Amino acid sequence: MAYSDKVLDHYENPRNVGSFDKKATDVGTGLVGAPACGDVLQLQIKVNDSGIIEDACFKTYGCGSAIASSSLISEWVKGKSLDEAAAIKNSEIAEELELPPVKVHCSILAEDAIKAAIADYKEKNGK
Ligand code: FES
Repeated sequence: MAYSDKVLDHYENPRNVGSFDKKATDVGTGLVGAPACGDVLQLQIKVNDSGIIEDACFKTYGCGSAIASSSLISEWVKGKSLDEAAAIKNSEIAEELELPPVKVHCSILAEDAIKAAIADYKEKNGK
């Protein structure tokens, strides 16, 4: 299977790899797994007082497409409000990375991680 140049670029030069302190109140953590392949993806967001995602980072144990999807969304969510970030669709990720149909679930994992990170942040902050 051929990966697109964009997938290879994110895979070889992943953006924002790392982690924030899970316990910090301004951090939301989304940890999701794909039952089909066993890949696991963690996305963390750091939210400022105005409700804007200031920073994001990820750790992914998974395939190249999952790593590329994580890297891409860690860039996309920065500067967005929680609502704007929650509106990111897996189809947009798949389209940007030109994922083949068998790899679409990797982008779904990324969308799920954004939603989980936002939910975690909101829960922590009683929103
Ligand atoms: Fe499962 Fe990519 S093969 S996340």
